[in-house]
Amino acid sequence: MDITPREVIELEARHIAPTYRRPPIVFERGEGVWLYDAEGKAYLDFVAGIAVNALGYGHPEMLATLEAQARRLIHVSNLYHTVPHVLLARDLCESSFADRVFFCNSGTEANEGALKFARKWARVRSGHEEKYEIVAFSRAFHGRSMGALAVTANEKYRTPFEPLVPGVRWATFNDLESARRVIGPRTAAVIVEPVQGEGGVFPATREFLEGLRALCDEHGAALIFDEVQCGLGRTGTLWAYEQYGVAPDIMTLAKPLGGGLPIGAILMTEEIADVLAPGDHGSTFAASPLVTAVARTVFRTICQPDFLDHVRRVGAYLGERLHELARRFPALVKEVRGLGLMWGLELADGLQPSDVVEAGYRHGLVVAPTGHNTVRLVPPLIVQAEHVDTAVAALEAVFEHVGRAGGKSSA
Ligand SMILES: Cc1ncc(COP(=O)(O)O)c(C=O)c1O
Repeated sequence: MDITPREVIELEARHIAPTYRRPPIVFERGEGVWLYDAEGKAYLDFVAGIAVNALGYGHPEMLATLEAQARRLIHVSNLYHTVPHVLLARDLCESSFADRVFFCNSGTEANEGALKFARKWARVRSGHEEKYEIVAFSRAFHGRSMGALAVTANEKYRTPFEPLVPGVRWATFNDLESARRVIGPRTAAVIVEPVQGEGGVFPATREFLEGLRALCDEHGAALIFDEVQCGLGRTGTLWAYEQYGVAPDIMTLAKPLGGGLPIGAILMTEEIADVLAPGDHGSTFAASPLVTAVARTVFRTICQPDFLDHVRRVGAYLGERLHELARRFPALVKEVRGLGLMWGLELADGLQPSDVVEAGYRHGLVVAPTGHNTVRLVPPLIVQAEHVDTAVAALEAVFEHVGRAGGKSSA
């Protein structure tokens, strides 16, 4: 490489918009569940591009599809039929509640489209212009565009950009009574993550999602599940909603679907799709043959019963090891939450997730902060028990160090 890590960091400081605070590491390549920086140091990756790289790095079938499809056809536009587009849509529908799919490029874009579709459906179906409200929840994260941000709770993300899209009403996550107070005849849609990710890894309760389903049915509102982070095998079932026995009317997907390539999807019932017409929505790059072909390989790999069994087994093991860690460091870890391969360690008051994340890099482990005070672990779904042991050993070393530095005793 003809550029040094220091030069990369200097160029970033000069030319990249300052919307991220990046560590002084330049990642250069990946292999399996390992990342390597420009100096060749190995890091065990328990972030996976924020729950994106489900098959890790360099997955042979994914690479083979990528290469073959790139040679055949990369992009022609949504103006035309292409083969991988419809095959991926058929696979997604056959394995879920959905009848139809709209593809896009990201989770934000999927949620933006989902809100549009739900509003149109609610208006057309009810015949009432005023049926446009969207109900969203505390700690929710649905993206950064004006519509998706309008249903995202974090004030820090919202305030500088207000006014956002109007018509949003708020309730408390996992508090059905609070939802009952705001869902009514004007509600077009309720949008919720079955397992909140950016909010700090909080699984919904069964009663909460069941109750939201009933309230949506009662008031003719669409139930939207945002499975951008928790969908596609992350929680140990293909869809997180399967664990709750509650199906939505619309579901949004993104992160892992392209195995690292950008793709989002809005899955919907026939009833929702019925109100849509040519011109209602569109996206230039969406559903390209290249990305949908790769996504189909990723999807068909994740769908295998053995693959999902593996996620459940290793996920349960990771959960056990994290609970053990929390018992060993009760002054540092307040709570362990998660399911499948989506876990959060809530830290004790006064401890910053960034302290743990930065110490993690020194011990060759990549983890990320989420919520206010939580460290998130979302490794590639191909992670093995031995990697879990390595990660937990690194976290032990990190907590020893952080505990000593902060004067908090471990056990
Ligand atoms: C639940 C959820 N929805 C939506 C998004 C936004 O997705 P993207 O960053 O691909 O636009 C995210 C991203 O973290 C997410 O976790």
